[in-house]
Amino acid sequence: MLKNDQLDQWDRENFFHPSTHLAQHARGESPSRVIKTASGVHIEDRDGNRLLDAFAGLYCVNVGYGRQEITEAIADQARELAYYHSYVGHGTEASITLSKMILDRAPANMSKVYFGLGGSDANETNVKLIWYYNNILGRPEKKKIISRWRGYHGSGLVTGSLTGLEVFHKKFDLPLTQVLHTEAPYYYRRKDLDQSEEAFVAHCASELEALIEREGADTIAAFIGEPVLGTGGIVPPPAGYWQAIQKVLRKHDILLVADEVVTGFGRLGTMFGSDHYGIEADIITIAKGLTSAYAPLSGSIIGDKVWKVLEQGTDENGPIGHGWTYSAHPIGAAAGVANLRLLDDLKLIENAGKTGAYLSKSLREALGEHPNVGEVRGEGMLAAVEFVKDRDTHEFFDPALKVGPRVSAALLAQGVIARAMPQGDILGFAPPFCLTRDEADEIVAKTVRAVADAGI
Ligand SMILES: Cc1ncc(COP(=O)(O)O)c(C=O)c1O
Repeated sequence: MLKNDQLDQWDRENFFHPSTHLAQHARGESPSRVIKTASGVHIEDRDGNRLLDAFAGLYCVNVGYGRQEITEAIADQARELAYYHSYVGHGTEASITLSKMILDRAPANMSKVYFGLGGSDANETNVKLIWYYNNILGRPEKKKIISRWRGYHGSGLVTGSLTGLEVFHKKFDLPLTQVLHTEAPYYYRRKDLDQSEEAFVAHCASELEALIEREGADTIAAFIGEPVLGTGGIVPPPAGYWQAIQKVLRKHDILLVADEVVTGFGRLGTMFGSDHYGIEADIITIAKGLTSAYAPLSGSIIGDKVWKVLEQGTDENGPIGHGWTYSAHPIGAAAGVANLRLLDDLKLIENAGKTGAYLSKSLREALGEHPNVGEVRGEGMLAAVEFVKDRDTHEFFDPALKVGPRVSAALLAQGVIARAMPQGDILGFAPPFCLTRDEADEIVAKTVRAVADAGI
């Protein structure tokens, strides 16, 4: 195909990009890049630049790019049946098969899967179902949802409220009043540097309990959290965190939603983050890794306890008033089936665990002693390097210096994509699960150079 020389202009004149400085982009002051093709862990733009994508898109292309098994499954499904809805008991072979495959892999006591399109709408569904659940149980006051500061759960009205990052609230009149936030399990950023991990966990649990008691347990419906904080900084929780939190939730009869949009289907080296941390959720949110982003599809896995009440609700009130035109879209479902098979056949989850651990260890060895690196952390195929002005006091850089974005830009200049996380000077890595040790070595060597090139 001939190169369209107007594409850049059309982009700036017509395309509203998410999470973008709109004015700078329209004026042509910020970078734009047109991606043309991709294979394995590499993407290629239309100018022929080949980049190692160490963030798997938005931590979603878990099996890597260019997998023919998935593209063929999508093409076959489109030829046979591109669309039919799933309302009033309709389904397709792909959507029914996928729901069984998900339940076969899910933690115990999970009952059904509701399919959506993305992580935000899945969490929107979860909140609606939780409100419905408490109405059916005759507890109309028990409606508030607690999430954590730095949690990320989407950018809709209620999901943007659940998200605990300032940029998603400011000037949008969020968070909504039904949403409350509690302390993030971010040990590195604890206020008292002498506090042990154990004491910090106890502190997080007691902050949660204090919030519940302040508001009244009879007004709190659910708690939502990612097994590992993702967009908020890629922060694995301190040991014992989930046990301590679940104890508080059980005591006050509060449901637990595990948002596994990033961690579901292998990113931590286990099928679910819930398996990894012993989380016994009532609802699990899934999206990204369900199809490795080959087609949009998300899901809410509903546990037995909630499901029973939903059935009771429809016996009392008639069909559930919830659904999207594209719920369980057959093309997404076909992509999901092929993706889950590929994860098994190529043992990609095992590789995510092993090569991910190697990546984190190598980053730690290469940068752990750098005077401006406060922490190198990771779990499975997730890793982060946090930059600080002073290692001893944990004093952060002035955000105006844009240390994180500068390192990420210097790394991009060498052909590696890592993400400057939105709050703090944190460089995040979440490569596809097929990453090799050589590719991990390349990421680490280039990151070391990028830190130097950025003048840190
Ligand atoms: C944990 C988590 N939940 C929900 C979402 C929202 O998903 P989506 O962007 O598909 O709406 C994201 C997206 O990054 C996420 O990381």
